[in-house]
Amino acid sequence: MTDEARPAPVPASLAAPGSAGAGFAALLGVADLPPGAHRRVTIGDLDVLLAHTPAGIVATEDRCPHMSAPLSIGVLDGCIVDCPLHRGRFDLCTGEPVQLPSTGGLDADGVLHAPWTAAGSEPKADAPGPKLDARRLTRTRRMRFYPVRISNGWIEVAVPVDERA
Ligand code: FES
Repeated sequence: MTDEARPAPVPASLAAPGSAGAGFAALLGVADLPPGAHRRVTIGDLDVLLAHTPAGIVATEDRCPHMSAPLSIGVLDGCIVDCPLHRGRFDLCTGEPVQLPSTGGLDADGVLHAPWTAAGSEPKADAPGPKLDARRLTRTRRMRFYPVRISNGWIEVAVPVDERA
């Protein structure tokens, strides 16, 4: 067992719906998630992202809060995970985006942000139409987290019962 493994503190306002009072399920051995690691664990039809950050171990849905790409294949650097699809960057320790997607669109508060182009890339412009509207109206949601506890060398996560079916 890794002595330093501990759950990260997560604000109650960022608890995943249905996770309060949910039973804990053992998802992964602590030894399989060393500091700095992150990976997907699937339970029922729910894909969970487990990440061992400097603040502790977090569990969230393995779907980018923008357009649902798997964050488990993005790069984790400290608390920050990069989304592989549109270069969004998210802080797993606070739940806040640190870089909104390159597509632009709405932030969690509904404020519109313009698209941006990474250095070294050619700007891409969509013609007016449904695709442009979809990008503009897609909201990057707030991240939500499942409660985590460490027990007998296992990472246990409180997952709503209906997600386990
Ligand atoms: S799906 Fe992750 S930034 Fe768009």
